[in-house]
Amino acid sequence: MRIVLLGAPGAGKGTLCKRLVARYGLLHLSSGDILRRHRAEGTDLGKKAQSFMDSGALVPDQIVVEMMAAAIEETSAADFVLDGFPRTVNQAIELDKRLATSGHSISAVLNLKIADQVVAERMTGRRSCPRCGAVYHIKNLKPKVDGVCDSDGVALIQRPDDSPEVVANRLKTYHEQTEPLVDYYGNNCTVLDIDGGRDPGEVSAAVFEQLDALVGA
Ligand code: AP5
Ligand code: MG
Repeated sequence: MRIVLLGAPGAGKGTLCKRLVARYGLLHLSSGDILRRHRAEGTDLGKKAQSFMDSGALVPDQIVVEMMAAAIEETSAADFVLDGFPRTVNQAIELDKRLATSGHSISAVLNLKIADQVVAERMTGRRSCPRCGAVYHIKNLKPKVDGVCDSDGVALIQRPDDSPEVVANRLKTYHEQTEPLVDYYGNNCTVLDIDGGRDPGEVSAAVFEQLDALVGA
């Protein structure tokens, strides 16, 4: 299964991906996590991406397409979930072309829908593990020990792009540049609309039901 996960900032893409990985054994490829790793390691790519990410804009298509094509190629896994990529119609066209060269295509697109008003509350309460990328929330999804990752015991951090001003910009960017992908995929792929406003267990249960039906499990 090759899944594309679409959704606004804070829709719950990362949270859902952890559950998709656990259930279907998919490889989780998050463009945001890979970009943050480049920044932490101080690579040229990370330096180029920095100002775009900090302002809530998109990193230029060419940089992200090459980075994600390499990530897909590096793995021999046939099954993956793409989280945060593609994010523009151009990126989607490039992805389709590159998958086609190896005889592959996207199996389904999950469109995680959420109201803009819910996003702000989720973002201010989010805490992330800088090592493994696990995502928590100070009210909705608490770690077992306050401020510490359940998986690896590392101190949780707040993402610098979760300030209210940057979140507002990320939402604007999403509506202008990423939402048109729903129509793009609607024309050539199965798009499953998911209500992301429910609690995380309900969201993943709804997704599993639809994906199980799709793969005939
Ligand atoms: P990226 O890291 O992809 O950020 P994003 O799309 O803005 O999404 P988030 O990671 O903020 O939210 P999420 O949907 O994963 O929600 P989460 O599960 O964490 O991208 C960052 C930046 O990198 C971009 O702004 C851009 O600059 C650049 N970039 C990345 N990809 C790019 C691309 N393809 N092209 C160009 N530039 C790119 O959940 C949020 C919070 O809510 C958490 O605290 C969680 O615990 C809580 N929560 C989750 N689900 C629920 C629920 N159902 N109920 C209650 N709380 C919930
Ligand atoms: Mg995320």
